[in-house]
Amino acid sequence: MNTRQVMELWKAWKADGVENPETLPKHVAIIMDGNGRWARKHRLAVSRGHRQGTEALREIIRHTDDLGIGALSLYAFSTENWNRPQEEVAALMQLILDFFASEIDELDEKNVRILILGDKGALPEKQRETLIEAERRTAGNTGLRLNIAVNYGSRAELARAARLIAEEVRDGRLRPEEIGEETVAGHLYTAGQPDVDLLIRTSGEMRLSNFLLYQNAYAEFVFPEVLWPDFTVAEYDRCLEIFAGRNRRYGGRQA
Ligand code: FPP
Repeated sequence: MNTRQVMELWKAWKADGVENPETLPKHVAIIMDGNGRWARKHRLAVSRGHRQGTEALREIIRHTDDLGIGALSLYAFSTENWNRPQEEVAALMQLILDFFASEIDELDEKNVRILILGDKGALPEKQRETLIEAERRTAGNTGLRLNIAVNYGSRAELARAARLIAEEVRDGRLRPEEIGEETVAGHLYTAGQPDVDLLIRTSGEMRLSNFLLYQNAYAEFVFPEVLWPDFTVAEYDRCLEIFAGRNRRYGGRQA
């Protein structure tokens, strides 16, 4: 069965009311890598690479929603990205504003619920307010969970979870012996969401780069060679097809 036929099948399943057909991941995470190399390849400023990357992103969000995948997590800006040249950081910050200005109406209309992963407190005021407003406006939506990691680092997220748990113990709301894996999961930004099933990192790099370390524990990894701005819906379908063909054992034996 080729990708197109698989797609038709998924669409038919969806039309029949099947929310999460078995072969589809419930949660996809994407590290959108290669914007800088795309810009260099086209002899453009790096900011143009990021802008082009945002165009690719719009299509991928739409397609994720069309397929009925429950959650999509995107790595937009890491805690380490502050170390990039000031101009590039400014361009990325501007893109965040532009993205929400142009997309929020459609996302809200499509019942998408936006959640920002990361420390919004350290962001410039405009960005912070825009992100808080996007979360507030879509908080009651029940469709695609769109997680956007901004000023995010997974180790910082785990340290924050430990801090929150310690405070509950200190205040007598939790006993140390009650702390289990679900306690940790419940104190991450992604609390209440399924673990990542499929992690995609474009541009041929094969690293996690401090992205959702806990949530990716049993994720399938796919590393397409294509640079992020060139990542199309067809490339995405190919990743989903690879995922559908994987044999997931979670440490057990094949049935
Ligand atoms: C990595 O490419 C990409 C980033 C650091 C930023 C990704 C951000 C976007 C696609 C747009 C902003 C997102 C939103 C939600 C508005 P790189 O520059 O490290 O690529 P390189 O390794 O080729 O230099």
